[in-house]
Amino acid sequence: MKRDISALVKEMTLEEKAGMCSGLDFWHLKGVERLGIPSVMVSDGPHGLRKQDDKGDHLGINDSIKAVCFPPACLSACSFDRELVKEMGVRIGKEAQAEDLSVVLGPAVNIKRSPLCGRNFEYYSEDPYLSGEMAAACIQGIQSQGVGTSVKHFAANNQEYNRLSCSSEVDERTLREIYFPAFETAVKKAQPKTVMCSYNMINGVYSSENSWLLTDVLRNEWGFEGYVMSDWGAVNERVPGLKAGLELEMPSSNGTGDTEIINAVKDGTLDEAVLDRAVERILRVVFDYIDNRHEEKLELEADHEIAKHVACESMVLLKNDEMLPLKKDEKVAFIGGFFKTPRYQGGGSSHINSFRVDSAWDCLDKEENIVYAEGFSAVDDIYDEELAKQACEAAKSADKAVIFAGLPDVFESEGYDRKHMRLPGCQNRLISETAKVQPNLVVVLHNGSPVEMPWLSCAKAVLEAYLGGQAAGSAVAAILYGEVNPSGKLAETFPYKLSDNPSYLNFGCPDKVEYHEGIYVGYRYYDKKEMEVAFPFGHGLSYTTFEYSNIKLSADKITEKDTVTVSVDIKNTGDIAGKEVVQIYIKDNTGICPCPVKELKGFEKIYLEPGETKTVEICLDSRSFAHYNVDTSGWFTGSGDYDILAGASSRDIRLSATLNIESSQQLPLKVHMNTTLGELLADKRTRKYGLKFKHQMDVFFGAPGSTDIKEDSMPEEDGAALGYAMAEAVASSMPVRNLVGFGLYKKEEMLKLLEEMQNA
Ligand code: BGC
Repeated sequence: MKRDISALVKEMTLEEKAGMCSGLDFWHLKGVERLGIPSVMVSDGPHGLRKQDDKGDHLGINDSIKAVCFPPACLSACSFDRELVKEMGVRIGKEAQAEDLSVVLGPAVNIKRSPLCGRNFEYYSEDPYLSGEMAAACIQGIQSQGVGTSVKHFAANNQEYNRLSCSSEVDERTLREIYFPAFETAVKKAQPKTVMCSYNMINGVYSSENSWLLTDVLRNEWGFEGYVMSDWGAVNERVPGLKAGLELEMPSSNGTGDTEIINAVKDGTLDEAVLDRAVERILRVVFDYIDNRHEEKLELEADHEIAKHVACESMVLLKNDEMLPLKKDEKVAFIGGFFKTPRYQGGGSSHINSFRVDSAWDCLDKEENIVYAEGFSAVDDIYDEELAKQACEAAKSADKAVIFAGLPDVFESEGYDRKHMRLPGCQNRLISETAKVQPNLVVVLHNGSPVEMPWLSCAKAVLEAYLGGQAAGSAVAAILYGEVNPSGKLAETFPYKLSDNPSYLNFGCPDKVEYHEGIYVGYRYYDKKEMEVAFPFGHGLSYTTFEYSNIKLSADKITEKDTVTVSVDIKNTGDIAGKEVVQIYIKDNTGICPCPVKELKGFEKIYLEPGETKTVEICLDSRSFAHYNVDTSGWFTGSGDYDILAGASSRDIRLSATLNIESSQQLPLKVHMNTTLGELLADKRTRKYGLKFKHQMDVFFGAPGSTDIKEDSMPEEDGAALGYAMAEAVASSMPVRNLVGFGLYKKEEMLKLLEEMQNA
């Protein structure tokens, strides 16, 4: 049905229009009955529905309807599977249709800057490319059902502490390369109906009134077409917010924001056209939902199976020294409160009232050769001597012991950050005690973010189940007994200890959080520092093995505008079927700017029967090679060589090929009296001047008659070589004004030469 939304807006009174720009209550937008504008509902998100029929809140305190808790993003991202995440989105979209929800509040795509962020379990990754791909898939899935999404929290919302008032102090290159791309990809690939702005400030300006963020970048650069809503209570000043591009304030401000808008229009400080445009944007999304509304039945049981499937495809086998899969004829001792009470979701606004929860205990055949001892409770950190003793006895009596460990609810949640990266002490202690009596030890982890593993060398296998959604238990059981071959890969690095993390010195600050590590987040940092980590980004084992061969590029030489396709052959060399995630990283060797050792720019997950080989083709677009340049306010690709790396993880690169890019892009030349000879020599546009000046300096200092920095012109004798090297270094960091100082040029002559270079 074709609707004339602009005409509709013209019929609205000032009061009705202002009213449209804030919620009716916690979850509804206002309607205007006389004009046939319905009041629609929005609801959390992101990994299932938290529809509150009765009393509303944004912290998951009051009850919501029974729904399906799919795996939170911390786990689903480990699938590295776009189609799977899209399918999960389709199911959430269908549930939202059935429940008459116009927008699902998600996906949440903030980057995992620190393992401590209390909300990491809701976020996908430390890597912007992976986060963007997952977000786009999720949005495409949900929106295919005629329901909108709200990609959140835009932007740089990476800690919970003081989230409503602190400022994330981030340089622009870091925002553009690390904290924005997930949103950018979501907008460009999947056009979410709404974007939710974050609570925090960015460089001193609230996201909710940041016109650079909400209008220049989001709309004008990326082409966002929907409406921006505030996070719940994120509005600081309503009228500046509206002007900046915040269309909808949520939840209701009980008339405060509306009155401010009305008064501002009346006193001329707000152009009514700005209000009209905001209302039009909101109504387009509202009616888009209304026009696509259709009959849909809740299929909770079927969705539970999808939730299980996603969990099975995502859990990450971190370590396996011939321990898993368990065999039916082995006697296994299961230990730990999480075995019967899995922790499968986090606290806060994403908390779902699951219609059913599987524990691993429920899903195992009780006729099997298994024993259970609680060992420790899943809710607190108390070392109970008696429980521990029983656990050790059970472990000793069996062939293998599997300990279900994890973070209790209070350890991580929306609203606050973790204080450390440790498991409860009682669990670490019991794991170590058990290892003393049972060397065949497996640890299953239920956590939303990395934990330190002081017992790692004693555990022969570790399965990272993360927070697995309501079917977590059945997925774990299926993987432990080999009904499912694990294929998840870590979407984040597990450092050995918290202090290894790059944000360690600047996290959880009250007013200003300085992102000093810049673009070196996650593996970008650990790689650059050549630091050992417990488990690297992209790591994940399988019960089979894969061999990589035959890497090929569709071209060896391209321009900065071209794409290139990498192909790699993958063979399943084991004797069971399995899935492998082929990861493509790029290493920039051009030296154009400081950059990470490698960055993920492509991946594909494939299924292989035993002995089967498949060729995987991954296309790298032109953006894959670019860095953000703040001087030109744009993406820049340098000329030179790039290594294209194909790996099974960021630290398990199996193959590489070299690509040469001849870029026509040039950074603007800025030469002045303080430009150094080294800078002139390094830039081909000024090199000839650099060589000339260098020669003059050599003559001036009586250095060997070289005009260039060449190894073979170095004097043989050591002392002389050192002096030569020093002279070279001094000359290369000497600004051209020194040539004037040494009397080699008059000031006017040098200024003229600089002008000549600038205009060449
Ligand atoms: C959260 C959002 C959520 C909203 C509504 C806020 O506290 O930050 O992610 O969508 O509440 O529940």
